[in-house]
Amino acid sequence: MTSLIEEAAKRLEELRAAGVDVGTGPQRGAGDAERPTPEAAVVPLDARKGTHHGASANGANHAFVQRPSSNDSAGAQRYIEIDFERLRSRGFVTPDAGATQIAEEFRVIKRPIIRNAVGKGAAHVKNGNLVMVTSALPSEGKTFTSLNLALSIATEIDSTVLLVDGDVAHPSIPEQLGAPHGPGLLDLLTRDDLDFADALVKTNIDKLSLLPAGSRHRRSTELLASEQMASLLRQIATRYSDRIIIFDSPPLLATTEARVLATNMGQIVMVVAADVTTQHAVNQALSTIESCEIVMMVLNKASRTDVGTYYGYYANDAPG
Ligand SMILES: Nc1ncnc2c1ncn2[C@@H]1O[C@H](COP(=O)(O)OP(=O)(O)O)[C@@H](O)[C@H]1O
Ligand SMILES: [Mg+2]
Repeated sequence: MTSLIEEAAKRLEELRAAGVDVGTGPQRGAGDAERPTPEAAVVPLDARKGTHHGASANGANHAFVQRPSSNDSAGAQRYIEIDFERLRSRGFVTPDAGATQIAEEFRVIKRPIIRNAVGKGAAHVKNGNLVMVTSALPSEGKTFTSLNLALSIATEIDSTVLLVDGDVAHPSIPEQLGAPHGPGLLDLLTRDDLDFADALVKTNIDKLSLLPAGSRHRRSTELLASEQMASLLRQIATRYSDRIIIFDSPPLLATTEARVLATNMGQIVMVVAADVTTQHAVNQALSTIESCEIVMMVLNKASRTDVGTYYGYYANDAPG
């Protein structure tokens, strides 16, 4: 039996041959480029130094203001003013910061995602504009990655982004962005009097809107695996086919619903906390999303840029 890693490598090669953009991954030596390896799809993301997390001691000074009613074509009624300074202090990409290291890292990560989403590659990726960000376990950096990806893509010409707070049991985008209370994803799944636009929140980045998690529900996570969810996704994928939808999602090993959600996605970004998550957990998580064609791994909080060592460890003990 071949290992998951080898399977992934094989699939990558098939995808590449079919013209799908699977990214270039970290630089490798000139001589070893022929044979595809899983790391071809892995992008390392350095740990930010000097950023502060946890309690928002620096104040929740993000404002939620009701926009003066306008004949806005997208129809979103709510609006938040994202506090870029606050985001920057927490290590996020911000539109005004220029070429920072974090911006560079996300530029690399977003390239193949954008290409697969807008169908400019040779192959057309089904629902390529639905991008799920997940991980094996909690706290690996899903929210960090989804928000950064969304911010990074939103600064790109011609790409409009919808960020969905889909980790409905632990929504943490409000903590980072200050999204207002009010209807969101869960409400769209449980109420039929609600219009999609009623749940959307516009931001001071023109190309970025937000779909908050919405009202807590007894079966919040279960709803992610419901037929309503699948139907909403189909609707979003077609109605907003020109947008890239980024789903911050629950961890794959904590709930079975995340796996069901994954089956409806065009692309999956799997965040792996470097040196923390065991190979076993990563393999297990990967095996739950085998049905998704495009899985891109982001190695988060890597403490060294020489990630070769990490892959060695990562790829090694999977029995053949
Ligand atoms: N590369 C990184 N650099 C700095 N801080 C990070 C990084 N990745 C995650 N964090 C921080 O670690 C904490 C956990 O990450 P988070 O994205 O909330 O995890 P998850 O959504 O997977 O549970 C957050 O405070 C987040 O801001
Ligand atoms: Mg999160």
